[in-house]
Amino acid sequence: MTQYTSTNDERESALQREYMQKAAGYVSDLRENLGRSPRCCVVTFGCQMNARDSEKLLGILTQIGYVSTDKEEEADFVIYNTCTVRDNANQRVYGRLGFLNNLKSKKPHLKIALCGCMMQEQSVIEKIKKSYRFVDLIFGTHNIFKLAQLLVTMFENQEMIIDIWQETDQIVEELPVSRKYPYKSGVNIMFGCNNFCSYCIVPYVRGRERSRDPKEIIREIERLVADGVVEVMLLGQNVNSYGMNLDVPMSFAQLLQEVEQIDGLKRIRFMTSHPKDLSDELIEVMKKSDKICRHLHLPLQAGSDRILSAMNRRYTKAQYLSLVDKIKSAIPDIAITTDIIVGFPGETLQDVEETIDVVRRVQFDNAFTFIYSKRTGTPAAAMENQVSDAVVREGFDKLLKTVQDTARERAALLQGQTMEALVEEVNEQDSSLMTGRLSNNMLVHFPADQSMIGQLVDVSLDVCHGFYYTGHIV
Ligand code: SAH
Ligand code: SF4
Ligand code: F3S
Repeated sequence: MTQYTSTNDERESALQREYMQKAAGYVSDLRENLGRSPRCCVVTFGCQMNARDSEKLLGILTQIGYVSTDKEEEADFVIYNTCTVRDNANQRVYGRLGFLNNLKSKKPHLKIALCGCMMQEQSVIEKIKKSYRFVDLIFGTHNIFKLAQLLVTMFENQEMIIDIWQETDQIVEELPVSRKYPYKSGVNIMFGCNNFCSYCIVPYVRGRERSRDPKEIIREIERLVADGVVEVMLLGQNVNSYGMNLDVPMSFAQLLQEVEQIDGLKRIRFMTSHPKDLSDELIEVMKKSDKICRHLHLPLQAGSDRILSAMNRRYTKAQYLSLVDKIKSAIPDIAITTDIIVGFPGETLQDVEETIDVVRRVQFDNAFTFIYSKRTGTPAAAMENQVSDAVVREGFDKLLKTVQDTARERAALLQGQTMEALVEEVNEQDSSLMTGRLSNNMLVHFPADQSMIGQLVDVSLDVCHGFYYTGHIV
């Protein structure tokens, strides 16, 4: 079903709160039947924005009476919040759906919902309708705020419910959110993307760029801080173009300055910056700030001008390098991380050498390297000169080695220094250690007590282990 809407936000959130009450009635019936609280499991497959959406879904589910579990096999309701940026994300979903089908045959009252970016693709919906009939509810990226209403429909019907919107100009706030971490939170500052990089499906599944009203962003962060949050991550596909389409335009740098004023907030991060829109004003604001972390994620994607142009990235290798120079000379202690794609149509090993050259010159603190994945409907998918697996492998392996070597060298430079870390969680391998995150986004493990989670402490980075440190509180 396709719907277009321009309903008033506040009216919509009030309506959804009514549906939450109604849905709570059904969940309460279920509790009586089961003789215990019904359990829900929300599984996140995608990026930080996808994870933030999961927190919103879980907020609604716990509000109406579900108890959250990480174990799908224990759940009475499972939601897969999907990603479609690369094909392997899709394959993971199909694989795990087979497992859910098994669970459902043993536990017929199990309800299964699919949402997120993958559901915005018509071909996916057709496939699920045909081969995954046991799915109860499907919705997309534009209408997650409607979960309670959709659940009511699901409880009142037997057949598969599908509600996918192609677009929306609606931003619905003021609904419950269940945060994964008490001390840090993502905050959406914008939705969608207008950049149409030629390989990327995100603009098609997330719609056009929409910035949130700065007052609402500030209000949300103030509330988070009152609730114990010390670090926020401002989220958008291209935060550097924040505010351009607001009634009263505002730059991202201006927004950051306002966020900086919030008392009690200790750290500010943001994701993702597009190199073409990164302004001098932003560099200046970061340089002066006490709260903005010394980390910039600046996706490069490729180093060859020919490939950058075919990717529609709208910068050249030289422009990228001079931007990095400018940033590093203004903020010498900044960590720069990146995303790189290998195997874009037409890319030769010579082109990959250009990428490797950028990696050597910039000395990225970390880089996520991806093999190009053909996404149906994007301009690159129709390009004829797709690269053979063998050539992709060769370029990828060489790039990865350079990325790892330079990241190790960068990390080693900080050994012996003392830096501030936010205590995040108990170390997975050794429960006598806590894991902290430095301003530059690196992790350090050190002896400490669980009661320190959420606090900022000074830690000596005693030993560098390549991509993380061990140390002690000073
Ligand atoms: N808006 C962000 C990126 C979102 S997607 C930005 O512009 O940086 C995260 C990363 O996935 C991208 O940076 C890119 O490196 C990678 N990616 C996107 N589409 C891809 C594709 N078709 N194949 C392989 N990697 C892809
Ligand atoms: Fe995709 Fe480019 Fe938009 Fe990032 S900026 S989400 S890579 S289209
Ligand atoms: Fe994120 Fe994947 Fe969607 S990267 S925006 S969840 S396609």
